[in-house]
Amino acid sequence: MDDLLSLKQSFLAEIDTVSEIAELQQLKAKYTGRKGLVTAQMKALSSVPPQQKPAFGKAVNELRDFVDQTLDQKEILFRDVEKQKRLLSERIDITLPGKPCLPGKTHPLNKVLDEIKDIFVSMGFSIQEGPEIELDYYNFEALNIPKHHPARDMQDTFYVSDDVVLRTHTSPVQVRVMEKKKPPLKIIAPGKVYRCDADVSHTPMFHQVEGLMVDTDVSFSDLKGVLGLFIHSFFGDETPVRFRPSYFPFTEPSAEVDIGCIFCAGKGCRVCKTTGWLEVMGCGMVNPKVFEMSGYNPDEFTGFAFGMGVERLTMLKYAIDDIRLFYENDLRFLRQF
Ligand code: PHE
Repeated sequence: MDDLLSLKQSFLAEIDTVSEIAELQQLKAKYTGRKGLVTAQMKALSSVPPQQKPAFGKAVNELRDFVDQTLDQKEILFRDVEKQKRLLSERIDITLPGKPCLPGKTHPLNKVLDEIKDIFVSMGFSIQEGPEIELDYYNFEALNIPKHHPARDMQDTFYVSDDVVLRTHTSPVQVRVMEKKKPPLKIIAPGKVYRCDADVSHTPMFHQVEGLMVDTDVSFSDLKGVLGLFIHSFFGDETPVRFRPSYFPFTEPSAEVDIGCIFCAGKGCRVCKTTGWLEVMGCGMVNPKVFEMSGYNPDEFTGFAFGMGVERLTMLKYAIDDIRLFYENDLRFLRQF
């Protein structure tokens, strides 16, 4: 019986120092395993005097149960601690902000382009397109731009070959449409154009919107009415508009459309170069020579045409002072629209 007591004490002393499950298993083997110390005591039962057997047997059994239960409890405790540790290390902090996924936005140029299209479509114009790689014939010849015209200079025009260019304006679409359709005609033609030029207000590629209206008695008053309405819709009802005489080979008479400077209200500033006016587009009555070359009878039909730069209109509308900002894809710029 004394042996059992000291076994129990040594077991209790040992289990106190155990810190992991593997050691518990070693302890189990040492005490209640097949060759364990407690098991040996059970085997020794046969050599105990008969009167003491029941008490001794009971005490050994109790000791074995005590050892096993203590080991089991300890194991449960260890597994619990381990689980807590794992949960802590694997914890996901759901309070951290997620990675932002910002929605895409319409580019400012497309926004303005959409607005321009909407205004003209609301006035009954339809939308046409033409090729960006264009024949010299449509870009120049059919628009009454003679061979010696400065616009044909290699400095301005990207030549693909002797008679193929990157279109320098959207005006060739006028001719292409007239070749295919009979009047009455009310079209706009938005698209990319190319000129060999680059500074704060010029990029080698930019966008224009062409316009063309042809019928039996279209007059300069119609031109003023349509473009006046456009400008008032686009820049605001109170915006002053003026038509200033100008020259284009494909229109006669020709004009530049100016609006009262929206930065200084016409007082004169750096943007309007102290004139109080900003040039926004070119226009005019279609030159009879252009009608002839397109297969329209100039005695039967009259029409007007206009062309505007989308970048320029966008820069004026949003007070942007460098055209290159449109093409740098800087999100800090693009997100402002
Ligand atoms: N094509 C001219 C330009 O690019 C603009 C324009 C179009 C002028 C139609 C008159 C009529 O400057």
